[in-house]
Amino acid sequence: MSNIKNKVVVLTGASSGIGEATAKELASKGAKLVLAARREDRLKKLQDEIQTSGGQAIYKVTDVSSRQQIEELAAYALNEFGKIDVLVNNAGIMPQAFLAENKVDEWDKMIDVNIKGVLYAIAAIVPSMRERKSGHVINLSSVAGHNIYPGGTVYSGTKFAVKAISEGLRQEEAISATNIRVTNISPGAVNSELLETITDPTMKAGLKEFYQVAIDADGIARAIAFAIEQPSDIAINEMIIRPTVQVG
Ligand SMILES: NC(=O)c1ccc[n+]([C@@H]2O[C@H](COP(=O)([O-])OP(=O)(O)OC[C@H]3O[C@@H](n4cnc5c(N)ncnc54)[C@H](OP(=O)(O)O)[C@@H]3O)[C@@H](O)[C@H]2O)c1
Repeated sequence: MSNIKNKVVVLTGASSGIGEATAKELASKGAKLVLAARREDRLKKLQDEIQTSGGQAIYKVTDVSSRQQIEELAAYALNEFGKIDVLVNNAGIMPQAFLAENKVDEWDKMIDVNIKGVLYAIAAIVPSMRERKSGHVINLSSVAGHNIYPGGTVYSGTKFAVKAISEGLRQEEAISATNIRVTNISPGAVNSELLETITDPTMKAGLKEFYQVAIDADGIARAIAFAIEQPSDIAINEMIIRPTVQVG
């Protein structure tokens, strides 16, 4: 039997790109999805598609930069399904620009969504996993969480932080023998709506060029499914997934 079937998965950033593909992949393997993002029309449409294909999904409109909304998401999932087996911290934004552009509001937003959103979800959901001595946290970092390039400084900073949070959580849960697995996933260029979060026209044009080699989000969804479906004593801790022809 698939080690995904009947697992309750809370998935942030489910309304597009990697999140949407992951929701479909996991639902097709029998997971019970709790979809979260800000755009309700997208969540509703995805829920309908999953249900029409015979899968299970509920959703809750959630802004991950709000600690209260994440706590409400966790409470909703626990109330509806009685447990949370997997948390996928996928919501993220990438408004890149050189530091000299002084887009301080965008730095704040990236820190709020990409870092604080991950921590708020860990705070709201992992305690129930510790109680059950079972769980899995999957965080979406990036190749930008390994490499730094001009214009990507703050985004890279947030994704380095995600990688550090993943590794710290992994070590702490291992010491405490909670049986919680941690997986840090670092995609390269993937087709999604992420470039739409860039407001700097030069940066956006440059990245659109770079993204000509981008792979489809299904590839990342399959990697997430692979990590979940391992037996519970095996933790896939780190995955870097690039298009074959991506250099940096
Ligand atoms: N695409 C790539 O090349 C790539 C590479 C490396 C890493 N990643 C990472 O992969 C993750 C998914 O990105 P993607 O490529 O699939 O981009 P995407 O298509 O833009 O999806 C981003 C998701 O995050 C959600 N989101 C944004 N702000 C949010 C907030 N404040 N609260 C809740 N949800 C929020 C969006 O939904 P709403 O707008 O409806 O809230 C959307 O569902 C991100 O963490 C990204 O950094 C992507």
